[in-house]
Amino acid sequence: MKIGIDKIGFYAPHLYLDMNQLALHRGIEPEKFTIGIGQEEMAVAPITQDPVTLAANAALRILNDDDKEKIDLIMFGTESGIDHSKSAGIYVHHLLNLKESARVIELKQACYGATAAIQLAKGHIALNPESKVLILASDIARYGLKTSGEVTQGAGAVAMVISAAPNIMSIEDKSTFLTSDIMDFWRPTYSEEAFVDGKYSNEQYIAFFQETWKKYKAETNLQLNDFAAICYHLPYTKMGLKALRTVLNDGSKGTQDRLLRNYELSKTYNKLVGNIYTGSLYLSLLSLLDQQKDLKPGDRIGLYSYGSGAVAEFFSGILQPEYQDHLQKEENEELLSSRKELSVSEYEEAFLKTLPQNGENFELDIKNDPAVICVAGI
Ligand code: HMG
Repeated sequence: MKIGIDKIGFYAPHLYLDMNQLALHRGIEPEKFTIGIGQEEMAVAPITQDPVTLAANAALRILNDDDKEKIDLIMFGTESGIDHSKSAGIYVHHLLNLKESARVIELKQACYGATAAIQLAKGHIALNPESKVLILASDIARYGLKTSGEVTQGAGAVAMVISAAPNIMSIEDKSTFLTSDIMDFWRPTYSEEAFVDGKYSNEQYIAFFQETWKKYKAETNLQLNDFAAICYHLPYTKMGLKALRTVLNDGSKGTQDRLLRNYELSKTYNKLVGNIYTGSLYLSLLSLLDQQKDLKPGDRIGLYSYGSGAVAEFFSGILQPEYQDHLQKEENEELLSSRKELSVSEYEEAFLKTLPQNGENFELDIKNDPAVICVAGI
């Protein structure tokens, strides 16, 4: 039975910051951010958006009544959730009026959560071929003002429907994964911002990639030449390229050119949105599918998922017949092009404006937020 991605969509908040402006204000050469890091813009979440509303807005853009009738499992991957106990998915279940006879859970393993959800969804669909699974991957990435991670922040969500006989991409059965207890990036419960050992995290991302890729090749007998493209978890868009370059020599000249060309297209939305943690790999996949017209049904796409701490997985999917008819390229481009630019001081103000932490009632003015679903208060 083919199981995989039947629908995929995303949502990013309506505000963004230009990385050239950020660099100028921080006294850094803009090329470091736009070329060295590979980020052009960064989505900024207003106080009226949180990981729940971002996810609900993403799901709203792809679900129809038939999906709502068949979805009986909702998995919400996040590392910036709003409650230690209650799943963020329950709020989305309510907001989208999903059916009562559904299971809802939240998954956390840094940026790896949504990949875990996909693999669990495969098992669920194998046992229940008529059902559909909604996967939400939603985060707001915060490192702090004037930190070296500042340029790698972002905000947004990806929503995916997983089903049997999927319209977009079937997920192949073989995948290789790896876990090791490392402190490259973490956010303890007392902190609003993540702690990171930046250089070490880059090294570990690449080391985990090389290991999972080596195992994948050994266990499948597939080679680089068998891939039309490889999509990466993109904490910033230079990161995947650094990993790809370490294995490129395994492929023919034609394969190297193809993978590099497709890598460029796979970062289209990520370089305008920034790191959305667990949704980043899937935003990259969406960029590739929307922007690369030369892909064909039957093409194999590799996917490298990395979640600090750390768990990594390499797996693959096969594009389905007429998959292009099930994408929303114009709507996705419109979502990004209609955003409003913030000055650096407006961004700093938005960054510092956070919800009260003492549990008090709080109302927010949502008239300036064009999203269908907003945080109106606590
Ligand atoms: P940094 O120290 O500010 O930057 O930190 P740098 O000095 O390493 O420079 C970055 C690049 O810019 C270098 O290129 C420079 O050469 C280049 P590279 O050698 O790496 O190819 N550069 C220039 N290029 C053009 N013109 C110039 C110029 N100047 C310099 N004028 C760092 C960068 C990414 C470490 C920092 O932003 C950071 O700590 N970010 C957060 C951590 C992160 O994103 N880690 C990625 C791997 S871990 C991961 O992916 C998991 C994660 O998503 C979390 C999760 O799983 O939940 C983070």
